[in-house]
Amino acid sequence: MNSKALSEAFKRGGAEALLASLKEARGYDWIGIYVKKGDYLELALELGGTASHRKIRVGEGICGMAAKKRQTVVVQDVEQEPNYLACFPDTRSELVIPILGPGQEVLGEIDVDDDQMGRFGLEEREELEEAARLLSQGWEKIKPNLFSKGYGAASPAEGPK
Ligand code: SME
Repeated sequence: MNSKALSEAFKRGGAEALLASLKEARGYDWIGIYVKKGDYLELALELGGTASHRKIRVGEGICGMAAKKRQTVVVQDVEQEPNYLACFPDTRSELVIPILGPGQEVLGEIDVDDDQMGRFGLEEREELEEAARLLSQGWEKIKPNLFSKGYGAASPAEGPK
């Protein structure tokens, strides 16, 4: 997806529509957003299943590593990654992108799991990094939804305008 298509999805339906469009375009198994609360990352939105690790300490797992380094982490084969925390039995590769604020602080992360080894190439990575930039730019608008329980439930989607 080009940046215009991503931006349109985000304006139309906020974080949920943005993630849904990425998941659909690429056929990823699972995609979610963790938000950073103190020393923890908490799962705020997920599409494609119910992940078992919903609260992860910064520094732990692939998610915690990405938050600590404030850098994208791509794992092409989760079985080779000693820090990996398994959420789904079929997952073989994973990509985590920090959502950085204006001062380069970690606001949250996009996490993607897939059952194919080596699923994440440069194209996928750049696309997801663009999505993380959009989430960062619209963060103040989407934050109340992401921090409230039950995000993505029956309430109408809310874009950042
Ligand atoms: N595998 C992650 C945990 C999150 S689930 O994949 C959704 C990790 O190692 O941090």
